[in-house]
Amino acid sequence: MTQSAPAYITTPIYYVNDRPHIGHAYTTTLCDVWARAMRFEGLDVFFLTGTDEHGVKVEKSAAARGIAPQTLADENAAEFQKVMGMFNLTNDDFIRTTEPRHERQVQALVKRLLETGDVYLGEFEGWYDEGQEEYVTETKAKESDFKSPISGKPLVRANERNYYFKLSAYQDRLESLFETNPGFVKPDARRNEVLGRLRGGLQDVPITRTNFSWGIPFPGDEEHVIYVWIDALLNYATALELAEDASDRHRHWPAAYHVIGKEILWFHAVIWPAVLMALELPQPACVYAHSFWISEGQKMSKSLGNFIDLPTIERYVDVYGLDAWRWYMVNNGPLGATDADFQAAGFHETYTTDLVNTVGNCASRTTAMLGKYFDGIVPADTGFDFPGWDLAGAAGTAVAKWRAAMADFALDGACDAGIGLLRTVDAFINATEPFKVAKDENRRDELASILARCVEAVRIASVLLWPVIPGRMETLWPALGCDLDPSRGDLEAVAAWGDTLKGATTRKIALFPRVDPATTPSADIAS
Ligand code: MSP
Repeated sequence: MTQSAPAYITTPIYYVNDRPHIGHAYTTTLCDVWARAMRFEGLDVFFLTGTDEHGVKVEKSAAARGIAPQTLADENAAEFQKVMGMFNLTNDDFIRTTEPRHERQVQALVKRLLETGDVYLGEFEGWYDEGQEEYVTETKAKESDFKSPISGKPLVRANERNYYFKLSAYQDRLESLFETNPGFVKPDARRNEVLGRLRGGLQDVPITRTNFSWGIPFPGDEEHVIYVWIDALLNYATALELAEDASDRHRHWPAAYHVIGKEILWFHAVIWPAVLMALELPQPACVYAHSFWISEGQKMSKSLGNFIDLPTIERYVDVYGLDAWRWYMVNNGPLGATDADFQAAGFHETYTTDLVNTVGNCASRTTAMLGKYFDGIVPADTGFDFPGWDLAGAAGTAVAKWRAAMADFALDGACDAGIGLLRTVDAFINATEPFKVAKDENRRDELASILARCVEAVRIASVLLWPVIPGRMETLWPALGCDLDPSRGDLEAVAAWGDTLKGATTRKIALFPRVDPATTPSADIAS
């Protein structure tokens, strides 16, 4: 069997001292959409997510509850795993940093860095942000009035004898990585941010801690534990067993996309590539840093009552269905360089405009007319000419647009390609008026051409929309009388225009029911 091209995609691994919420669901859903699309394209996809379980925050949260850190980790990792099931997410693995497979390999990789001289024992004094578990440079500390730019809490003066990673040695190579590969960080605004900071100069970074014990012991010096960020970043390598001798998983390396939120860009765009350079491992193709969800115009907070946590998401899914949730995430989320506002009213409007009035309506109109005028059997396209209308051409353009958008991680653009094709079908129906044509027995050829083309375009659009709304599209396919299976990896063939459905038996289908806006879960913002 010939091996198809690899496509490795990762989410950040999520901290177990927090419970899953819209932010985690969002990043993971984006990766899921891309993974589905690429599998459908026939690529050899590996989609990884997981949990980040070490560090002082987990140790403290567990202590506050009087439980062992591992117990807390087990409890919350299970919550995150529940998310995978809830959202129909197709990750190929779920890595937990407390698993022996990860711990063993992290030690091996760090040992390698010690041997190459990229890690050394040294002394350091500086400003430390306890909430973020990171040192802040003197300049940054001054700029933020010696307070954490994230939490606002005072920075503390810390002095440590630690193992350091020689980040400063990679300044030139990092800059050239950014220059030779302009798509290394996306979107562009994020790339410019990192590059600006990178050009400001790099300091070596401590990669061990001695002030707590909930971490992976440093190889050969067990008084130190490995800093949670090094431990965490290495998950992308340990899941693929890169520190094990031979593994079938090696073929997936490196990542096509490390998808993350903007707040952890520095770690992924600078520290991680430098670690990979030190380990002599190939670089990922792209670090994609999306922005943040806020909610009803304000930063999400538990006290404001606008926090979109799992129970809230479950209420949306109950009322609108899972695909509606996924659609809103992908189309209205912070994929670009600006934050996105989650609004109950906006959710309802998007659902109604896109899914009820466009996707649902177009599919039901087409199948209803096939039922009414052709007993549900798809007629052959008689080649009738409708000047100014070229649905086959429109479908080809939509597929090309979808492909380019998916390759660029412009998932909203890919949705546009699919739904845009359905809007064209709607306009074609309005212009050609099959309901009038049907009244004239002498115009059967014309009617057959209209409906054969509509149903073919609906079929192709459904292929393009499947990665985002898989549940409803899989319901639509049997109603169109077609047997599609994305796991066959034959998108190119199935998205090609033809007389594909000629003779197929269709039935009228309603995909997205109207929802009474009064039942939309509301955020109940505290006044
Ligand atoms: N454990 C680290 C990541 C290590 S990766 C090697 C971490 N975990 S986290 O639990 O805090 O998850 C952060 C990620 O959750 C963000 O990067 C983003 O993917 C997602 N989000 C958390 N809040 C978010 C929003 N409000 N909006 C969108 N996504 C955000 O950082």
